[in-house]
Amino acid sequence: MSSNSKANNNSSSNGEKKQVVCVTGAGGFIGSWVVKELLLRGYHVRGTARDPADSKNAHLLELEGAEEKLSLCRADVLDIGSLRSAFSRCHGVFHVASPVSNDPDLVPVAVEGTRNVINAAADMGVRRVVFTSSYGAVHMNPNRSPDAVLDETCWSDYEYCKQTDNLYCCAKMMAEITATEEADKRGLEVAVVVPSMTMGPMLQQTLNFSSNHVTRYLMGTKWSYPNAVAAYVDVRDVARAHILVYERPDARGRYLCIGTVLHRAHLLQMLKDLFPQYPVTAKYATIILPVESI
Ligand SMILES: NC(=O)c1ccc[n+]([C@@H]2O[C@H](COP(=O)([O-])OP(=O)(O)OC[C@H]3O[C@@H](n4cnc5c(N)ncnc54)[C@H](OP(=O)(O)O)[C@@H]3O)[C@@H](O)[C@H]2O)c1
Repeated sequence: MSSNSKANNNSSSNGEKKQVVCVTGAGGFIGSWVVKELLLRGYHVRGTARDPADSKNAHLLELEGAEEKLSLCRADVLDIGSLRSAFSRCHGVFHVASPVSNDPDLVPVAVEGTRNVINAAADMGVRRVVFTSSYGAVHMNPNRSPDAVLDETCWSDYEYCKQTDNLYCCAKMMAEITATEEADKRGLEVAVVVPSMTMGPMLQQTLNFSSNHVTRYLMGTKWSYPNAVAAYVDVRDVARAHILVYERPDARGRYLCIGTVLHRAHLLQMLKDLFPQYPVTAKYATIILPVESI
């Protein structure tokens, strides 16, 4: 066994995991859960944030095992030098960071940021990258029959996403393609987790986009609900899926990560039943949406 393959062996003789892995966007909703699950499995974790000292990342230092096994470092996905420093001596990278927004100015952050992450990882000798894509890169296609079964071969219609201002979906499609192509060029192993709308307990203090999706219905600040279905998944399952594909050397390509598909009326009924004291949105919008994104 070479010294390199020894270093890449993820278990010591007593079975404790010793690998160093990096999570980009560690302080975000999904990133925080990925960090938590990695620490619980014994990994040494380096988490990146654009401002690690910001109080919005303080919850990471409270996670079980953080004191011994978590370090935070400053990295911006648009600064490849900062990424190389963050990935130094890492076996694996979980590239979770991305703006979750339809702002056109942020599309290049997702795409060029991903190119930088893959190249920085290859430069630093990282073995394996897990990329967080989105169901928005899969389901936004109005020409597909509503009865069609979606799987990992499905892609959203880029032009449709662009015309309907679903630029987040454009960004995730392009970022996912970039991750795969750059990794191929650089001989890096990449596995892609494709979560749908992600729900569940927040470890961070600030409200992320998908948690806000529920909050707006719960508080009734979203005026009406559409005649639309959406796919949902629990954030803890998303975090576990990241680690599962990381730990399976044969895992390559895309893995859809979806818990359930609900009509919006069903989701709102669940909210009403669980939280009868809240003014849950009740007004039904008659407009028919073939597909709905963020
Ligand atoms: N939540 C969902 O429903 C859902 C579903 C499917 C896929 N996803 C994907 O999951 C990932 C995380 O989403 P989330 O819901 O956890 O969102 P979030 O809480 O808003 O987290 C996004 C993270 O991206 C980081 N980030 C943004 N711009 C950055 C930049 N220029 N450089 C470095 N980091 C940057 C932020 O870090 P700082 O601001 O601290 O630097 C933040 O930690 C994204 O890739 C998203 O597309 C989310």
